[in-house]
Amino acid sequence: MKKPLVIGNWKMNLDYVEAIHLMQQIGVLLRNKPVEHTDLVVTPPFVDLRSVTSVVESDRIPVSVAAQHASQHESGAYTGETSVAMLQRLNVRWVLVGHSERRSYFQMTDDVVASTLRAVVRSGVQAVLCFGEELASREAGEHFDVVASQLQAALAGLDEQVRPLVTLAYEPVWAIGTGRTASVEQVAEMMDFIRATAASLSLDEPHVLYGGSVNADNAGAIMSEGRVDGFLVGGASLKAESFVAIAHASDDCYDGKR
Ligand code: PGA
Repeated sequence: MKKPLVIGNWKMNLDYVEAIHLMQQIGVLLRNKPVEHTDLVVTPPFVDLRSVTSVVESDRIPVSVAAQHASQHESGAYTGETSVAMLQRLNVRWVLVGHSERRSYFQMTDDVVASTLRAVVRSGVQAVLCFGEELASREAGEHFDVVASQLQAALAGLDEQVRPLVTLAYEPVWAIGTGRTASVEQVAEMMDFIRATAASLSLDEPHVLYGGSVNADNAGAIMSEGRVDGFLVGGASLKAESFVAIAHASDDCYDGKR
């Protein structure tokens, strides 16, 4: 089993004061009961990044910091955008690329996802490529086709040396923020399909995460029976206790499998 990865996506929640508070709480819980076998990442809003990286550094919290999005452009007249280089200056080591909320609410097309992914990894920053089908596609039995085409669009032709910087996150849109998690069977069969598709696109053994209503109660079963390498967690990452509990559930799975 690969070393698991648990990423908290705070979305558009928590101002910088609240973000500092959450980060400090996570730090205290991790000091009281360390997470030994799981890498942890938090993904605050842009305006919180500087504060959160400062807390992580000063309190030596074993957590990396990610951004929720980045511009596909290097610099220039792109009002409202944030470049990968600007994020790197803040010690941001990860960027989410193509989250379904960016795809559906902000017209992030497959082409923009592909160029953003390239902008991120070209700079040596780790990218979490998010993808997954909508409910209508699942009901029509087209989920494998949708996922294959999203992966193909983002990954085809990616330079060999940057491929190790790509992590995949399967997030069925119908499971995000709905409390309706994909079943472990649905996750397991999709994990097999994603690994095979990634291999056919020359992406060797990437971490493949699951996201969509993950919480402290379902994380253990999804990880062990669904055969995932970790989680992208939204709602349950906004409370220190549940985020750290998911990390411990992941740790226990890893320990049980070694
Ligand atoms: P959720 O969000 O855990 O609240 O379903 C997951 C995500 O959007 O990454």
